[in-house]
Amino acid sequence: MRIGVLTGGGDCPGLNAVIRAVVRRGIGEYGHELVGFRDGWRGPLEGVSRPLGIADVRGILPRGGTILGSSRTNPFKIDGGVGRIRANLETQGIDALIAIGGEDTLGVATKLDELGVHVVGVPKTIDNDLSGTDYTFGFDTAVNIAMEAIDRLHTTAESHHRTLVVEVMGRHAGWIALHAGLAGGANAILLPERQFDVAKVAEHVSRRFQHEYAAIVVVAEGAHPLEGQMVVQHGQLDAFGHVRLGGIGQWLAGELEARTGKEARTVVLGHIQRGGTPTAFDRVLATRFGLRAVQAAHEGDFGTMVALRGTEIRPVPLKEGTAELKTVPLERYAEAEVFFGS
Ligand code: F6P
Repeated sequence: MRIGVLTGGGDCPGLNAVIRAVVRRGIGEYGHELVGFRDGWRGPLEGVSRPLGIADVRGILPRGGTILGSSRTNPFKIDGGVGRIRANLETQGIDALIAIGGEDTLGVATKLDELGVHVVGVPKTIDNDLSGTDYTFGFDTAVNIAMEAIDRLHTTAESHHRTLVVEVMGRHAGWIALHAGLAGGANAILLPERQFDVAKVAEHVSRRFQHEYAAIVVVAEGAHPLEGQMVVQHGQLDAFGHVRLGGIGQWLAGELEARTGKEARTVVLGHIQRGGTPTAFDRVLATRFGLRAVQAAHEGDFGTMVALRGTEIRPVPLKEGTAELKTVPLERYAEAEVFFGS
């Protein structure tokens, strides 16, 4: 059997661990041939691939990013794209594809499966917002990076009696904000799932300054305030004469400064959350996903995605991963709220 592997969408710590496990078991245990496609769906679309041998995956377990490269190419949005993929897979003698990716990449995999292409999916995103699996690899690493940043920000915030607003990734789901905020002892956590009242956040911050020297607010990049509250436009001067530019974190720091009279700063963690070496948890999860995915391909269990259910890795229908976004339930948010302002 000749099995193709690709990594699509935003990169994520643990991708290389999946590739390594696929290759090690695919060749070592099953005796299959492995081929790596470049840059997500662009690889099969343009026929760009390279053979993957055991030597190619040596030493990549702790490496962040992906040795195959990634892109957000969607063949369904390109004229004749799907036909080109089918033709290239046939020319290259590919019997099955293992697609490692998030919502978009697995969405393409789902549609290709419906057209008869043999695909097995591996869920990936630092955002942890894919349904069908309890966790995605990359999330634990991102949370640990954000937590460490918050730990560090506590000490500088305390020294200067400031509010530190930490903006983390998460456009549609606030899992990183929730977990990093809880683990880092944030005094308020704001998620995309729930519009926030900036007056209440300012109250939490002020209360914090009554007893302590500083406040830490964690905000997901996709969080937004109640309708009508975002009256200060980006780029305006704040109460301390600073120019406020950028996303929700910048805006919020300006608002909190004006409402509490305490100096505020913003830290946007951005792509730092996606870079570098995966945690042990993510290496193990990614490795187990890779092992199970190549087993599924070997057994002809196509149209599936490997998923973590409890402690078990098992294949589930591909559609389960992309059917809907897994957002933070209200009861999880309520747990975090206990700590707000204190
Ligand atoms: O989906 C993963 C993610 O890291 C999001 O949290 C973030 O909003 C987005 O990707 C950033 O995408 P890009 O790397 O294309 O800027």
